[in-house]
Amino acid sequence: MEHITRTKVSDLLQSKDFGKEVLIKGWVRTRRGNKQVSFIAVNDGSVIHNIQVVAEVEKFNEELLRQVTTGSCIAVNGILVESPAQGQPVEIQAKEIALYGTADPETYPLQKKGHSLEFLREIAHLRPRTNTFGAILRIRHAMAFGIHKYFNDHGFYYLHTPVITGSDAEGAGALFRVSTLDAQNPPLKEDGTIDYSQDFFGKETKLTVSGQLEAELGALALSQVYTFSPTFRAENSNTPRHLAEFWMIEPEMAFCDINDNMDLAEDMLKFLMIYALEKCHEDLLFLQKMYDNELIERLEFVINNKFVRATYTEAVEILMKSGQSFEFPVNWGIDLQAEHEKYLVEKHFKKPVILTDYPKEIKAFYMKQNDDGKTVRAMDVLFPKIGEVIGGSQREENYKRLLQRTQEMHMPEKDIWWYLETRKFGTAPHSGFGLGFERLILFVTGMANIRDVIPFPRTPKNAEF
Ligand code: 4AD
Ligand code: MG
Repeated sequence: MEHITRTKVSDLLQSKDFGKEVLIKGWVRTRRGNKQVSFIAVNDGSVIHNIQVVAEVEKFNEELLRQVTTGSCIAVNGILVESPAQGQPVEIQAKEIALYGTADPETYPLQKKGHSLEFLREIAHLRPRTNTFGAILRIRHAMAFGIHKYFNDHGFYYLHTPVITGSDAEGAGALFRVSTLDAQNPPLKEDGTIDYSQDFFGKETKLTVSGQLEAELGALALSQVYTFSPTFRAENSNTPRHLAEFWMIEPEMAFCDINDNMDLAEDMLKFLMIYALEKCHEDLLFLQKMYDNELIERLEFVINNKFVRATYTEAVEILMKSGQSFEFPVNWGIDLQAEHEKYLVEKHFKKPVILTDYPKEIKAFYMKQNDDGKTVRAMDVLFPKIGEVIGGSQREENYKRLLQRTQEMHMPEKDIWWYLETRKFGTAPHSGFGLGFERLILFVTGMANIRDVIPFPRTPKNAEF
């Protein structure tokens, strides 16, 4: 059988080489038929569609055919023919079938179709074999590739920032500690606290919540950089939009103010929507049919609308005048909740929205302070259905003002001296933002839960796979 090379199903479904001998390998989705002929639908993950293999029963070992069941893995050598059946251009007349791996119908968890997404989360080791996760994983790949393409084409350098860090970039306090100390019996200082000077790095270290601070160091040398890294947050928020481990893309640009920053965010998101429609059309059609009949319309909505730009203060006024009764009451100073963002995007503006100039108390220490003494040059991009997809800001480039803010927020200078030094030596106006990769994938796939757009979700009490 191995005398010819394997062809991917995606290529064969496009092929017009009728009469040609081909070899395919993949997983059986279904087998039906009768005493004379078996129809075997095979998927190899290269495309949402299966290829149909037609096997005349008398030509094959009965025992072998019996084991070709849903979930088994096979190789088929045969002749590519035009398919007489509706809805498929080609099929394979099987000459030889080899069985790589059986899947006992009694115990194979995906034997039947139509499992709930909740159930599939419990079998994350097998769910890539479903049509839904095949589509999502291909879209995820295309979006990652599109992001690198976008930045490369725009002259950004990909900067690799550390996963293990000694600083808390967002000041959110939701950190996973990294330590090799004996958890049962850690060395203690005289005051009874843990002596991290004896730990692996000689200090207390954590998994990063954001690569931004290091990205700023890169931008203040290379002008335009971006990161694309896993980030970790130990916040105990069990919501459909939060993961404890998620991927973030963080561009950072010198000589760039908040307006340039908003322009970049809008242009990049529109590019990614166009890229998805172009590269993932069949997977999007499948997800639209199965889960979300407005999916493609929503992607086009982002492409075709100029994003509304408004300040936080204006947004609060709109919400207070809205006459809506929100679960979290609105007043100036609150951190906007999902319900507020949803109202602004879906009911009021009916466009993607970028809110700017938030109260400094609810934002991170590094944001550029406005002259009003109350607000900072923050920007959040809000999308329909998912809310915040991007958070960013212009950065405080003034050494004295930044130092003062770190002191007000009780950030020890010994942890952050290196960041402050960039403002001492050749500081420059600069800005950047963070795009939550899984939020983006949520939006592009139309899925409702962030656990369903990452292969192996990490959420509170869940790290099985
Ligand atoms: O708004 P955030 O916290 O901003 C930062 O971390 C900045 N350092 C970014 C920057 O300016 N370079 O996070 C950025 C984005 C959010 O808008 C959201 O899309 C996503 O990251 N995000 C999460 N996604 C999944 N699960 C979580 N727990 C997330 N927290 C934030
Ligand atoms: Mg944010």
